[in-house]
Amino acid sequence: MAKTHAVSFSRTGGPDVLEYVEVDLPAPGAGQVQIKHAAIGLNFIDVYFRTGLYTAPQLPFVTGKEAAGTVTAVGSGVDDFKVGDRVAYASADGAYSVERNIETKHLVKVPDGISLETAASMMLKGMTAEYLLNRTYKVGPDTAILFHAAAGGVGLIAGQWAKALGATVIGTAGSDSKVRLAREHGYDHVINYNTENFAERVRDITGGTGVHVVYDSIGRDTFPQSLDCLRRLGMFVSFGQSSGPIENFTLAMLAQKGSLFATRPTLFTYVATREELTNCANALFDVVLSNKVRININQTYPLREVGRAHMDLESRKTTGTTLLIP
Ligand SMILES: NC(=O)c1ccc[n+]([C@@H]2O[C@H](COP(=O)([O-])OP(=O)(O)OC[C@H]3O[C@@H](n4cnc5c(N)ncnc54)[C@H](OP(=O)(O)O)[C@@H]3O)[C@@H](O)[C@H]2O)c1
Repeated sequence: MAKTHAVSFSRTGGPDVLEYVEVDLPAPGAGQVQIKHAAIGLNFIDVYFRTGLYTAPQLPFVTGKEAAGTVTAVGSGVDDFKVGDRVAYASADGAYSVERNIETKHLVKVPDGISLETAASMMLKGMTAEYLLNRTYKVGPDTAILFHAAAGGVGLIAGQWAKALGATVIGTAGSDSKVRLAREHGYDHVINYNTENFAERVRDITGGTGVHVVYDSIGRDTFPQSLDCLRRLGMFVSFGQSSGPIENFTLAMLAQKGSLFATRPTLFTYVATREELTNCANALFDVVLSNKVRININQTYPLREVGRAHMDLESRKTTGTTLLIP
């Protein structure tokens, strides 16, 4: 049987549990194609699986959700993909690999004008920005939003996209250099939440009323202050927990703070059907090809050094998107 390499872990823990290992590469099965990855996207969800915050379906586990590459073999029953197609995906475990088999339901074709590296770095983060801004809450010219971790992977894409939709875009970031970076990527106002009280600043910026929607991927460290940034009937979107899970959330808080709405969305439910996936991916390709959204690949690591990449992501050293190169 052919062999390839992948990064897997046999127990949860720190970045040292990630191992670069040789694995079998069987021929693709029915409904599958084989891909040679050009690049793999690094995402915070990879950290959640590695630490055990999210439970891996089995051990050893090859984590990673996002990558792009070229189809090298086609299994039976596949008629919509052929050898040589440039493809990308954001919703299949096992992306930390040099080559792999994958069910075609996860794949989209990468259009001319978008490199495989750009696709690998933006599919998960960019499709997340799409559903958050267009579907979880319909952001438009009359909307004021607060987006935490504005200089991060999702954050730099979301700032530019929200600006293109005409919104008033407020962000937070953890250092002055990140504040400057976010300001260059669509944010009208950026608050350093390590040195300033962000809820007070949001109130000041919005003339006391608050924003329509808060996009919070920080979790523990920004709760419950994020609720204090909202105007009455505002929407609290909790879509991640980079600092740890939110504790002590109660429905009564939503009443006390102005009949608020709250949701905990995931990309995977928003692209569950083929139509949703292609619409979401096409919307992302459109904003990138029209230069409304620039993708900043600010860090690149060899796949075998993925432990270092995890450390940098967790210690808040990265900005924009990060690639792993097989
Ligand atoms: N639900 C979904 O569909 C979905 C999809 C994609 C991503 N997400 C979530 O969105 C968030 C962003 O993902 P990403 O991959 O683009 O990562 P990222 O934003 O590039 O990195 C996380 C950022 O969070 C901030 N942060 C604040 N407190 C932190 C802490 N204690 N530890 C680490 N980081 C902290 C840091 O920015 P500062 O230094 O500026 O604070 C850090 O750079 C993650 O929480 C992820 O789980 C959710």
